[in-house]
Amino acid sequence: MTAQAKPQANSKSKKRRILVTSALPYANGPLHLGHMLEHIQTDIWVRYQRARGNECHYVCADDTHGTAIMLKAEQQGTSPEQLIAQVHSDHCSDFNDFLISHDNYYSTHSDENRDYSAKIYTELYDKGFIAEREITQAFDPEKQLFLADRYIKGTCPKCKAPDQYGDNCEVCGATYAPVDLIDPFSTISGAKPVDKQSVHYFFKLPEFKAFLTQWLSNENLQASVANKLGEWLEAGLQEWDISRDAPYFGFEIPNAPGKFFYVWLDAPIGYMASFKNYCDRENLNFDDFWDSAQAEKQGTELYHFIGKDIINFHGLFWPAMLHACNLRLPNAIYAHGFVMINGEKMSKSRGTFIMARTYLEHFKPEYLRYFFASKLSNGIDDIDLNLEDFVQKVNSDLVGKLVNIASRCAGFITKRFDNTLAAELPDPALQQALIAESKNIGDAYENREFAKATRLVMSLADRINQYIDEQQPWVVAKQEGRDAELQGICSQGICAFATLIVYLKPILPELAVKAEAFLNTNLDWSQLEQSLCGKQINKFKPLLSRIENEGVEKMLTAAKPKEKSKAKQSKKTASKKDNDDSIAAEIEFDDFAKVDLRIALIAKAEHVEGADKLLKLTLDLGEEQRTVFSGIKDAYSPEDLEGKLTVMVANLKPRKMRFGLSEGMVLAAGPGGKNIYLLEPHTGAVPGMRIK
Ligand code: 2FM
Ligand code: ZN
Repeated sequence: MTAQAKPQANSKSKKRRILVTSALPYANGPLHLGHMLEHIQTDIWVRYQRARGNECHYVCADDTHGTAIMLKAEQQGTSPEQLIAQVHSDHCSDFNDFLISHDNYYSTHSDENRDYSAKIYTELYDKGFIAEREITQAFDPEKQLFLADRYIKGTCPKCKAPDQYGDNCEVCGATYAPVDLIDPFSTISGAKPVDKQSVHYFFKLPEFKAFLTQWLSNENLQASVANKLGEWLEAGLQEWDISRDAPYFGFEIPNAPGKFFYVWLDAPIGYMASFKNYCDRENLNFDDFWDSAQAEKQGTELYHFIGKDIINFHGLFWPAMLHACNLRLPNAIYAHGFVMINGEKMSKSRGTFIMARTYLEHFKPEYLRYFFASKLSNGIDDIDLNLEDFVQKVNSDLVGKLVNIASRCAGFITKRFDNTLAAELPDPALQQALIAESKNIGDAYENREFAKATRLVMSLADRINQYIDEQQPWVVAKQEGRDAELQGICSQGICAFATLIVYLKPILPELAVKAEAFLNTNLDWSQLEQSLCGKQINKFKPLLSRIENEGVEKMLTAAKPKEKSKAKQSKKTASKKDNDDSIAAEIEFDDFAKVDLRIALIAKAEHVEGADKLLKLTLDLGEEQRTVFSGIKDAYSPEDLEGKLTVMVANLKPRKMRFGLSEGMVLAAGPGGKNIYLLEPHTGAVPGMRIK
């Protein structure tokens, strides 16, 4: 094992050379706030390193391969290449608008990645680290596709709940193998899966046990990460299946026609590929960062920022592969927790699955950057985005404390002193005290203790606001002969503001640019000691404004999934089964006879809050009552319905809808909108009566 350079404390003499990555987002959909937490965390650390004069490169890419992306492209009637190009462009704009300073945002579907994946695999193969053997897997005979567990559903063998995934039951929590499901079906075609053999390629991970045990002793690993990895090592390592059969969107394995690299094989190699692409453009030496011997000689550093759900890939498979190929090892992998919204997991149905773009349409990126920073430690605890807390923190810290310092002082400097700061500060010790905190704040950034860094800065802001409160420049301003004093107090405030902005620049880069324009200077960490005294500044313009809870409400409304129109819904159901939305296939009379049609009395009809098309019906079947949600709101008002008889399908499997459980269906027909007609049975029909 190659000993990796220990991260060095920032010293003026030695500039560190660092390569940083964030995990590669899948190219199968838009970015959400979970992605943003990771990229904001990484970006703050990267910007801090650059601020301290280190050479810090930050690369990432879209993770473009796999079945999900292939199927999604097919669903959209496009090619995977077109799909990933569109997603790449969307991801780039989101990252850009969140002020994420990647040096290169590339794609795993690139020539560089194809080359490195083939090279690494071939080296593993030549060194005897690849095993080949036949395995049996579920296969969709209609779609001609091997099925991963998540593409198989069926009835839970334990509690008999229908429509459960291939590996666990959401109703009773049982875990099982897809073969144990009752009436399994492929979620892609609806067909019953069959068993099929095929040859797969495996990376012989168990051969790396000794190496991995040593790698775990790396003191830079977070304790919780090292413990988790240690548990896996203890439990025994398995050979890792790195191949998938065609059809698969990815890279074909050398000398194995019809076999493709599993997406997780080429994804981390994408870090190298993105960096290589960047090196070629920027004339940097790739081997300084990736060749084991050279990286050691150069003392370059490598860090992967990841979510805690992918520790195994980065902490076991990846280092073993690198080691096997004489490539450098990461100095550390830095894992973080998940984003929670108001204390709960982000949820599509609750409308808290907030996309990056939805956030950006309502708030400035720096508010979230600051909020996340104020919550981030170097551990793997989840980060709660409590939205009330978010509004409160932004308003109180950024607007009320930080920007307030400048706005309280700037007006006097402009109006009374022609934008010129005093030649000397009245309380130089106070300014020195701010500068003296640079070590603690810097250490907090270095150790990814961003919450601590923001706390330290805000307590300095409190001190300055207190100074201004005590000095009362607004009173001094009204008294004759106290001009010099007024200029001094306000200059003290402005100089303090400049220092605080230097400290917060990694978190608030855009605010820092505006502050630099206002202060007519660059705000650099290396120039903390340089005084602004006697300098001319510019007229102050408001830098940030307060945010309101109303904005949060609007964002949540925008994040809520829209109710799909009936037409779209039926199209989706049809295409799921048939892959086209033409008329459904013929059914046998026996199939139709299974439908239990009953007369039902509409005991109650109500509007459903938040639903455009639905009415909630309470149906009386004589012996029991059922709740049914029906999309007939445009055609009927509740008062027209109550007391009427209609016909319902009584044996339809209950369906969980956003607004509750729907236990059946009323029969209605028509083109839609106002023109929908409920079946109204003849008088004399009795609730519960079966219709033959
Ligand atoms: O979990 C994910 O979202 C993966 N796309 C991360 C890949 S990270 C790296 F290994 F490429
Ligand atoms: Zn179950």
